[in-house]
Parts: sequence; C-alpha cells; structure tokens
Amino acid sequence: MGFWSDKSVAVAIGGGIAAYKTLELLRLLREEGARVVVIATEAALQFVTPLTLQALSGQPVRSNLFSPCEADGMDHIRLAQEVDWLVVAPATADILARMAGGHGDDLLTTVLLARRGPVLLAPAMNPAMWAHPATQRNVAQLQADGIALVGPEYGPVACGDHGQGRMAEAAHILEGGRRQLSPKPWQGRHVLITAGPTQEDLDPVRYLSNRSSGRMGWAVCQAALRAGAEVTLIHGPVALPVPRGANAIAVQSAQQMYDATMQVWENRAYHAPHLSAAILTAAVADFRPANRQMTKIKKGTAAAVIPPLTLVQNPDILATLAARANQMAQDGQSPPIVVGFAAETGTDADAAESVRVLAREKQARKGCDLLVVNNVLAPGCGFGSLTNQVTILHRSGHEETWPLLSKEEVGERLLDHLANLFV
Ligand code: PMT
Repeated sequence: MGFWSDKSVAVAIGGGIAAYKTLELLRLLREEGARVVVIATEAALQFVTPLTLQALSGQPVRSNLFSPCEADGMDHIRLAQEVDWLVVAPATADILARMAGGHGDDLLTTVLLARRGPVLLAPAMNPAMWAHPATQRNVAQLQADGIALVGPEYGPVACGDHGQGRMAEAAHILEGGRRQLSPKPWQGRHVLITAGPTQEDLDPVRYLSNRSSGRMGWAVCQAALRAGAEVTLIHGPVALPVPRGANAIAVQSAQQMYDATMQVWENRAYHAPHLSAAILTAAVADFRPANRQMTKIKKGTAAAVIPPLTLVQNPDILATLAARANQMAQDGQSPPIVVGFAAETGTDADAAESVRVLAREKQARKGCDLLVVNNVLAPGCGFGSLTNQVTILHRSGHEETWPLLSKEEVGERLLDHLANLFV
C-alpha cells in the first residue's frame, strides 16, 4: 500500500497560470491512491475548467461558499477538518495576503481559517511580486503562524521573466506533503537556535551592528518546529514575527546573547526534553566599544575632533559551547550537536575554494561538530537574501555542497541532515 493510498487530500487552486501544473499534482495523487477533492477560486476557473478538474479528481469541483449542493456534501468546516492534507497550489500573492490577514471571503479562505491540520502552500507568481515587501511580509506572517511553504523555485516564469517565482514541481509538492504527514524526526528533542544580528552600543543613540535580517535563523527555527522539535530561539533585533511555538528570547548585545545561551545550556539537563542540538546562525559582533557612553557623544565645537573608537572582544558563544560539548564527550557523556554558521567573503575566481579553506580553519579554531558555510558576497546568498547556498563541513572531514535554495529549504535540509546523525 502506497503512502497516499489511505489519505484524503484537498487540493486548493488559486488563479494563476501555474494552475495548469496542478493538474499533474492531481494526476499523481490519484495514481497513488489518494481521495482528492478540489477547491478552486473563481479566478482559478479562468485558467482550468471544472470539467478537467472533475475528470482528474473524480469529484465535482468546489468553488462556491454558498452553493447548497456543495454545503450538503461537505461544508467548509467539515472539508477543512476531514482531509488529511490541504495543499494550495498555486498560492497566488492575493491568496497569501488574504490568508495572512485572516480573511474568510470565499470557500478557500474559510476552509483555510477552519483548518487545524497540516497545510502546504506552493506559491507561484512573477519574481517581482514574490520579492515585493508586502508579499514577503505576508509570507513571514504565515510562517510565523506555522504554515509550511514549498518553493517558489528559480527559473523562467510564464510572463517571460526569470527569477524566484515558479511553482514547485508536482513531485516536489508531494514530497513536502509526505514530510508533513510522516512521523516527526525531532519529536521529543530540544533545539537551541541563535539568530539575527547583535547591536553593540556606543552611546544611547548609536550602535555597531551588521546586516543580518534573521531570515536564516528563522528558517532553521521554523523547520525545527515543523519537524516536531521544541525550540528555544535566542535572537537579536529583527523585524520578523516570532514563529508560533518557539520559545523566543530577545536580546540586543553579544554579551546578552552569550548570557542567555549559557543559561539555556546550563539548564539543558533539567529541561524536558533535553537539549539535542545548538544551531548558531546569529551574526554575533566580534567586538564592542570598550566604553559605552551614558550620554550622546557630542560632535564638539572644535574642528574635526573625532572621538577615538576603542573596541574590545566579545565572548565567543560557539567556541564556548563547542568546548563544553567536547568536554562532555571526553567525560563519556553524549553532548548536544553543536552547529555553527560561517559568513565568509570570497571574491576571487576560486571563491568557493578559498571560502572553504577559511571555514575549515574557523571550524578547527571553534571546535564545533558542523559548520555551515556561506559566501555572503555570492549572488543570492547571505545577509537579507531570501535564498542561500551553503556547504556543510563535518568535523570528520565529510563535506556537502547544496545548490542555491530558499532559506526555508536550507533549514529543512539541515534539520534532516542532523536528524540522520541521531540514528
Ligand atoms: O540573518 P540573514 O540576513 O538571513 O543572514 C544569514 C547569515 C549570513 C547571518 C547566516 O547565514 C550566517 O552566516 N550566520 C553566521 C554569521 C557569523 O557571525 O559568522 P562568523 O563567521 O563571524 O561566525 C561563525 C560562528 O561563530 C557563527 O555561528 C556565529 O554565530 C558564532 N559566533 C561568532 C562570534 C561570537 N562572538 N560568538 C559566536 O558564537
């Protein structure tokens, strides 16, 4: 019996040209034995006909919230509650906006509001629409609400543009569903994640910081939550909503991040479940001003008197945790896995190799089990981007380079990768 053969699935279709690809999803689901019901928005039916959808799903298409015959068979509340899986493909910019705003003005949005089980969105739109701040704000809100996304993928889109916006392929969407409905590999495990930048005060109005948006750490956090982990997220100042279900601790400076992290680490054995991994994605300031001024540093009236900036080193959170974990291993205990991220800057022709060498040195210095390396100067990588391209360095010498992926996919792959180390 195949994975889908005892599953009921609602496939919701939004009004976008990618709706034609959803036909293949319907075909695959039926071929694998799933019971499928299609919910189509009015706009979706401009792209695919009810007849085609009915032929492929084996059931009349539902699109009208107020149709008596549709309510009779399965009203929106029952529809939302009875299916094992609900996938929205394509999820248009408009659907994302209405979901993020909690609207319930058609059959699809009322079903989504009433839904308690797993939902997967497969966004598809023009790359400029996907990158628009309003869309990204809505995506961040949906992810914070615990909604999973697959894609959008890179490549040519229907209007002739090229970029991130293509709906994920049907097989990829099904894989996402299988992952959502499968037993959770991180159930019963606790993960500590650091994310975002730190800010080091010069005076009450100025600080030193860096360009981290927190997206990478958020993606790892959301992947961990979806995989069933309990998550403590220690983060610097970011403009992202806290993921639902995460135990978030907001800090500002590197010293505060260090203190909060050490407190979680010290309590790891008393916390149920015990800490299994620490994944440090935060861009922690290596230095802070030696003397924080209690009042604003004045420009002064004398010409060009520039106050000197003296810096002192911040504690290294990753190196400290790695040293503690290594000590535990030497004492015969089984320590949490300690994972760092390395932001390297390679510009030469052989940037991938030079970055890898720098990161290997960093890993030896810090002593962590795994180091996830990104060249933050590579296109689509690093600070603030929606995507990232990473190489995973294991202490054992094993290495894996992943393609350019959305940060969500990097997070998901990383969690899968680490879960395999537990078995
Ligand atoms: O937040 P985004 O905009 O999505 O950007 C993502 C990212 C580029 C910030 C992320 O992918 C990343 O590379 N994070 C690590 C940034 C960093 O500080 O790199 P580093 O090479 O300077 O530090 C290596 C490791 O040591 C990191 O795990 C860091 O958290 C840790 N560290 C650094 C200094 C310090 N005092 N304490 C630390 O624990």
